[in-house]
Amino acid sequence: MQRLIVNLKHYENSTGKQAESLIKLLTARTQREDVKVSFAVSPFDLRIKSTFKDQDIIAQHVDPNPQGPFTGKISMDFLMKNGITSSLLNHSEYRIDSKIIQETVTKARKLGFEIILCLESIDEIRNFIAIKPTHVAYEPPELIGGNISVSKSKPEIISEASDICRKNNCELIVGAGIKTAEDVSKSIDLGASGVLVASGIVLSKDPLGSLNSLIKAL
Ligand code: G3P
Repeated sequence: MQRLIVNLKHYENSTGKQAESLIKLLTARTQREDVKVSFAVSPFDLRIKSTFKDQDIIAQHVDPNPQGPFTGKISMDFLMKNGITSSLLNHSEYRIDSKIIQETVTKARKLGFEIILCLESIDEIRNFIAIKPTHVAYEPPELIGGNISVSKSKPEIISEASDICRKNNCELIVGAGIKTAEDVSKSIDLGASGVLVASGIVLSKDPLGSLNSLIKAL
């Protein structure tokens, strides 16, 4: 199963009511049984899952604590009760301490919660593979939000990351600057099993058309 994760981030047109409108628009996308499309929404919008029961709504961040006296935290336990079974972690725009990463990945494995662990370099991938993440998202921060994609700019790193992940039973997703079908097909050819995209869809003049062209290229 190939993956396309749309990170709605925290743009004006992808939060609150507008997140709902955007996801509604994107439900009309091309359907492929071999492609799973997920929407990573702002914490404020996680309740959108109750409106879009058939869509894979995921969190942008999750904490390792259970439910209890934890002000401001988002627990896996509560997300799972509400039908959300996956989260990004350690995104370049929300980096966290390595001990917390380890604690969160370990807890997620026990609960069967999926963590997409975002890492910025091959060195980070080599280091964190030891904690046995099920999914790694490689995103070089300097390319995020731009027009030069990770697959054009870092093909050797994607290949190397894909070897490391395959040997460790981990799925590799890549992101940063992905805007075109060619960016996607190149990522897959280099060994990724999916892509993580934000501005290419969220800021597109035609978000549905953009999503469809990326889905077709997977
Ligand atoms: O999480 C996705 C991301 O950071 C990439 O952003 O705008 O380059 O697709 P963008």
